[in-house]
Amino acid sequence: MTAHVPVLRSASAPHSTGGAAAAAAEPHQMLKLTVRLPGGDALTVDAIEGLRLVELLRAHELPVKAECGGAGVCATCHIRIPHHWQDQIPEASDEELARLDEIPGACDSSRLACQIEMNRDLDGLELEIAADSYAADKHTTIG
Ligand code: FES
Repeated sequence: MTAHVPVLRSASAPHSTGGAAAAAAEPHQMLKLTVRLPGGDALTVDAIEGLRLVELLRAHELPVKAECGGAGVCATCHIRIPHHWQDQIPEASDEELARLDEIPGACDSSRLACQIEMNRDLDGLELEIAADSYAADKHTTIG
């Protein structure tokens, strides 16, 4: 199974200037996500409300692992969220916490990218792809 993700505009692409009426007609509000890679580089990408973080990363061809296809059981989509964002993100479920306990090197900022859905409160969210979840093979698929 391969997850369907819409094509996202790049952060540098021109945006509509149609005003409030045009914004109201758009089905999704374009949000931003800042992603830090294991090597230390960071980039800001567009994000769409309603997509899970793992889907957004994959849509931007950022090779995060997702061996169970986003079912929340493999713990290979390990990311870290800075402490100053912890109050905005939804709390981890007991199942997610159990999976996080299985990851060597997980810490209190660790989360599973497939368990967090993007929303307006997360506009500007920062995250780091954990080194153990960064797929060297960019052809790894969801599912
Ligand atoms: S993709 Fe398997 S737990 Fe997130």
